[in-house]
Amino acid sequence: KPAVPLRAPGAPVVVVAHRGASASAPENTLPATRLALEAGSDWIETDTQPSRDGVPFVLHDRTVTRTTNGTGAIRKLTSARLTRLDAGSWFARKYAGTRLPTLAQQLAYVRRHNGRVLVEIKGAHTKTQILAVVRVIRAQRMTGRVLVQSFDEVSLRRVRQAAPELPIALLRTTIDRDPVAVSRRLGLAAYNPKGSALLTRPAVVARLHAAGVAVFAWTEDSPARWKRLDTIRVDGIITNRPADLVHWRNRQV
Ligand code: G3P
Ligand code: CA
Repeated sequence: KPAVPLRAPGAPVVVVAHRGASASAPENTLPATRLALEAGSDWIETDTQPSRDGVPFVLHDRTVTRTTNGTGAIRKLTSARLTRLDAGSWFARKYAGTRLPTLAQQLAYVRRHNGRVLVEIKGAHTKTQILAVVRVIRAQRMTGRVLVQSFDEVSLRRVRQAAPELPIALLRTTIDRDPVAVSRRLGLAAYNPKGSALLTRPAVVARLHAAGVAVFAWTEDSPARWKRLDTIRVDGIITNRPADLVHWRNRQV
């Protein structure tokens, strides 16, 4: 089973920039990715969804309406149309003209800067759509530098089938009665719960680690939460404020 390295004793918590440095730049764009990597983030969390013609793009919402100057469901828009959208003006004038990245562009950028990508399969993906994501990861030679996560178990199974070499993670808003059993059933490299839910069941972190499963908690922006999650030894914290988390972490060791 492909794994992600677990946090070693004494090692600092890993910083995962949620949609890039999304408090400082337009989420899920290359400028947000650049800021996050410059700040020292270890991983960039990146949502992916296919265009109408099957090209994996980087976008969180089901529609492009909130984060671009266009409207409509991404799955109904062609890649030609999507690449012409402005994905920066909504955030700040200085980001006008920022493009919606394809997953290939995002992975190429992160690889050039020696980062890692937590790729979230957003919404149900067909086998063909999963294959398109897998092809991009392989073509960008990012197999050893990605963790593929989803709330959607069917999509994760499809990833496992299409690409047994890729580590996968399950996203959860609540903690399963037996997270280790769930991890074994799905062949998970990581179990990635909502931070507040995890803090109600802190003992599951050690149990998952004993089973060789990493834990990345989302999405936490306050030092009080970082402290509690660090204390229960989560492997990574997913945050909108990666620069602040990097500074905070560097003061803990
Ligand atoms: O990485 C976990 C987190 O991103 C899941 O929620 O809605 O921000 O994709 P969401
Ligand atoms: Ca996400």
